[in-house]
Amino acid sequence: MTEADFLTATRAFYDTIADDYAAHFQDELAGRPLERAVLGVFAELVGDGPVADLGCGPGRVTGYVASLGVPVFGLDLSASMLAVARRENPRLRFEQGSMLDLDLPDGGLAGVMCWYSSIHTPAALLPALFAGFHRVLAPGGTLLLAFQAGDVPLRLDTPFGHPVSLDFQRRRPEDMERLLADAGFALHSRTVRQPDAALADSAPQAFLIARRPEAAGDAQPV
Ligand SMILES: C[S@@+](CC[C@H](N)C(=O)[O-])C[C@H]1O[C@@H](n2cnc3c(N)ncnc32)[C@H](O)[C@@H]1O
Repeated sequence: MTEADFLTATRAFYDTIADDYAAHFQDELAGRPLERAVLGVFAELVGDGPVADLGCGPGRVTGYVASLGVPVFGLDLSASMLAVARRENPRLRFEQGSMLDLDLPDGGLAGVMCWYSSIHTPAALLPALFAGFHRVLAPGGTLLLAFQAGDVPLRLDTPFGHPVSLDFQRRRPEDMERLLADAGFALHSRTVRQPDAALADSAPQAFLIARRPEAAGDAQPV
């Protein structure tokens, strides 16, 4: 079966910019207290794990969550991103693959992180993406989704001077919440941070935490 064009394009984009991306974002979390707080809540909810960081990129957030004591591994499309992640986090496990085609058992995870990595998945595939997250989470497991809030995609051309381009989808939190509910999740919290000029944000930043209900019938509408 041939790979979907958007996956090929996403991988090629991140393979090209991996080293520059990693250097640029290496210390980003240090200046983002709200993001650290959200990750701290997630870490408490998932307890002893295990957690999958899907679309982990260079592993900076994987490493941060690991530093909070959570057993976590990363998965990404891009071999170049994974090379950085393994170099920077030699004690952690990183695998190549697509979060749309998870080679993971049903119900085996306490947590799934999708930190700015669902932003390249076409809207039509979000139901399948969330159904996959629901499948691999244990009952009571926790999903953390981070994305830029909004309606209009951002197109990045020649990032860091490289001759590549890619669309970065922005999404309305309420639309994502509806899709999560349709996939069987119960919303735990919605956090939206307004753009901070000092941080060069181009949009509000949304952080949704949702849980796979403990037992069938526990899901509340979100
Ligand atoms: C904006 S980067 C975020 C990386 C990382 N989470 C971080 O915050 O530094 C998006 C990442 O998601 C990965 N990605 C996008 N779609 C993916 C998919 N379907 N499966 C696995 N990884 C994917 C890309 O390769 C890229 O590394």
